[in-house]
Amino acid sequence: MHDCLRGGRPRFGAGGMSAATELEQVERAASCLVDKLSPACLADVKLAIVLGSGLKTFAAGLEDAIEVPFADVSHWPNPAVEGHGGSLVVGAVRGVRVACLTGRVHLYEGWQPCEAVRCVRTLRHLGVGRFLLTNAAGGIADGLVAGDLMVLTDHLNLTGQSPLTGEHEPAFGPRFTDQSNVYSTELSRELLACRDGLKTGCYAGLLGPSYETPAEVRMLKTLGADAVGMSTVHEAMALNAMGADVVGMSLISNLAAGISKQPLSHDEVIETGKHAASVMTQVVGEFCGRIA
Ligand code: HPA
Repeated sequence: MHDCLRGGRPRFGAGGMSAATELEQVERAASCLVDKLSPACLADVKLAIVLGSGLKTFAAGLEDAIEVPFADVSHWPNPAVEGHGGSLVVGAVRGVRVACLTGRVHLYEGWQPCEAVRCVRTLRHLGVGRFLLTNAAGGIADGLVAGDLMVLTDHLNLTGQSPLTGEHEPAFGPRFTDQSNVYSTELSRELLACRDGLKTGCYAGLLGPSYETPAEVRMLKTLGADAVGMSTVHEAMALNAMGADVVGMSLISNLAAGISKQPLSHDEVIETGKHAASVMTQVVGEFCGRIA
């Protein structure tokens, strides 16, 4: 069994103590952050933000920022994809303290779901109650154009995997988790009020790393997806299970395959992210001010 699938009890094998449980890894990561950031600083964090592809520049604008590279936090996985960054930056926006994760790891890189959610679980474990999950996504719904921002109303987890499988760990939530309201209605309303023209829709999370075929995009549209990407759903599931308030926002970096006449490229995703970063920065800044 993969270590991630082990629950709360430490394991002992023939060779002595075996690998740490998932909870132990989260606890160790949490105490590492407490050492580096101080409990007072962490206690004051009003919102954690996961910055998706091309969106990490948001963290550069934080005031009084303290940066901790993922590599310096025990058990935190290190993102490998160009443009995804990889540090925790704690700082202030409009006087509100936020914690930004300037990158994330994906299943398509070979990580397990529990590894993909370990950073957000650690922040939740430390008491952070609200999370804004951002990503880049391909637009499916009629009317979406590249550069749009779409607030997530719900998701389709089409990865075939979940961060909640394996031996049950009560610290990570109930065994059978209600998912009726994964994305907080109240927080989504606040986010939508931040700027005219924000879209809403359902995000389909797929394994990747290839982009979809046009037939798959037609299928996703039939299933009710408005946008498609390769992240976010597991983080949202893990945080919902831990009782956090979650809000999600997709930057529509391209139109999904078959909807656009052009072939898709990762460079396009990153480039659109850069252009939209200033809009995102305004929206998130406004959001932080509203939820203070
Ligand atoms: N498909 C899947 N993931 C994505 C896309 C896409 O078109 N664009 C950005 N991430």
